[in-house]
Amino acid sequence: MNNLNISVFASGGGSNFKAILKAKRNGIIKSNIPLLITNNSHCGAVEIAKKNSVNVVHISRKVYPDLDEKEYSQVFLNVLEKFKIDLIVLAGYMKLLPEYVVERYENRIINIHPALLPSFCGKGMYGINVHRAVLEAGVKVTGITIHYVNKEYDKGKIIFQKCVEIKENDNEISLQKRVLKYEHKYYPLVIASLEKIISYEKSNN
Ligand code: GAR
Repeated sequence: MNNLNISVFASGGGSNFKAILKAKRNGIIKSNIPLLITNNSHCGAVEIAKKNSVNVVHISRKVYPDLDEKEYSQVFLNVLEKFKIDLIVLAGYMKLLPEYVVERYENRIINIHPALLPSFCGKGMYGINVHRAVLEAGVKVTGITIHYVNKEYDKGKIIFQKCVEIKENDNEISLQKRVLKYEHKYYPLVIASLEKIISYEKSNN
């Protein structure tokens, strides 16, 4: 047990979110996970949150079309402050975070990307699109990257990478499945190491 709070941000099926919650149950992750923020109130991640008694907050430009960047950032920051969030974990979150959130949570936001950055990244490069691009490029190896988040897509400092084999007869679905297994294994482990560092820094401040 530590006194840190993690918020997961997700837009899709939520298999990484599920793996993170499992790691919490198994004691690998020690922090509380009280909050899911999503831009898509109908996504699988929301269902997973409900089943696991995690609070869900839906924030999207569709809900707040008239706010400027600062006001829109403040909507996120109010929720993050309410839940005393120390670490933001993006797990299939398909939106760029508002810039003041990135600024306020510098080195406290991480993302997982289903390829070896800096290849196969940027706008539109998410989920299955990444695996399609990897196969089209004909590379022999792919992987996962866990990195800090800054104001540009997929450009923050890399924390962890792991190679994943590409097989002769792979299609984008079989490749996605193999890569996801690595994501589910390593994302919780990286979160567990980061929470130790954040916890140490907090107690020495
Ligand atoms: C994961 O493969 C994650 O790496 C990817 O979206 C998928 C979400 O799956 N993220 C990106 O492509 C970010 N650029 P999930 O909803 O089942 O966790």
